[in-house]
Amino acid sequence: MAGDRESAVPDLKTNVPHSARIYDYLLGGKDNYQADRDAAAGITVDWPNLAKSMRANRDFMRRAGHYLAAELGFRQFLDIGTGLPTAPNLHEVVQAVAPDARVVYVDNDPIVLTHARALLTSTPQGKTTYLDADLREAAAIIEAPQTRETLDLGKPVALSLIAILQFIVDDKEAHRVIDELMTALPPGSALALSTVTAESAPPEVTAGVAAYNANGIPARARSKADVAELFRGLELADPGITLVSQWRPDDKTPAVADAHVHMYGGIAIKRGA
Ligand SMILES: C[S@@+](CC[C@H](N)C(=O)[O-])C[C@H]1O[C@@H](n2cnc3c(N)ncnc32)[C@H](O)[C@@H]1O
Repeated sequence: MAGDRESAVPDLKTNVPHSARIYDYLLGGKDNYQADRDAAAGITVDWPNLAKSMRANRDFMRRAGHYLAAELGFRQFLDIGTGLPTAPNLHEVVQAVAPDARVVYVDNDPIVLTHARALLTSTPQGKTTYLDADLREAAAIIEAPQTRETLDLGKPVALSLIAILQFIVDDKEAHRVIDELMTALPPGSALALSTVTAESAPPEVTAGVAAYNANGIPARARSKADVAELFRGLELADPGITLVSQWRPDDKTPAVADAHVHMYGGIAIKRGA
């Protein structure tokens, strides 16, 4: 059940590459092991612009969080597939706008669990919690005490699935978890997501995704039409689904060529009663 693993000593399986640690390594972090660095070195032979694309994605996370808090007034966030702490973390982005903002972080990687304390540096007015759980156990995430004690599910919640859905390779499963999560959240809630596409650099990303699979990490790229389906039943906010670098860029957004950005992103709202 979600959260139970927190009481056990996590098995980091440091001899097996993990997606969170490969991401950390390529973003310049220190929470990774030789197996992750070796996998990253192999993957980036095929996917040389992966680190640039990841940085563009991370900046999308910052802008999406700011937009949700500052423009749409969200105060409650459920972030699944959080990754290792980095600067800025989502709660730092949204609490800079609204110190009373509350964030539930969720990841299923034991290395993220061991670093979760760095995610729990909330303002006194707000709150952050960490839940060790799998996105595919959507119902357990919603029912977990960490979620219930941090978020009021009677009020709108911004769900973020940033750079995680490429690891849910089956569309039916991706739709199931999104439907279960959004059904549990009231009208006015939002879904912010980004996921890998090959449309901006087909040979590079196709080879890179194959390299992830060859390293034992199932992954896939999606077309813009596939990503639109992930948002089905929700109302997309402007500018719709774009490469993450083109989604409401601000003066801090790094300049990057489209061919070096391999993620689509967007935000949509659940309407209706
Ligand atoms: C590429 S990182 C993205 C981190 C962060 N959201 C960002 O965009 O900077 C993907 C994260 O999703 C987590 N993850 C992958 N599959 C997951 C699953 N089924 N359930 C929960 N977390 C998962 C990984 O452990 C990793 O930390």
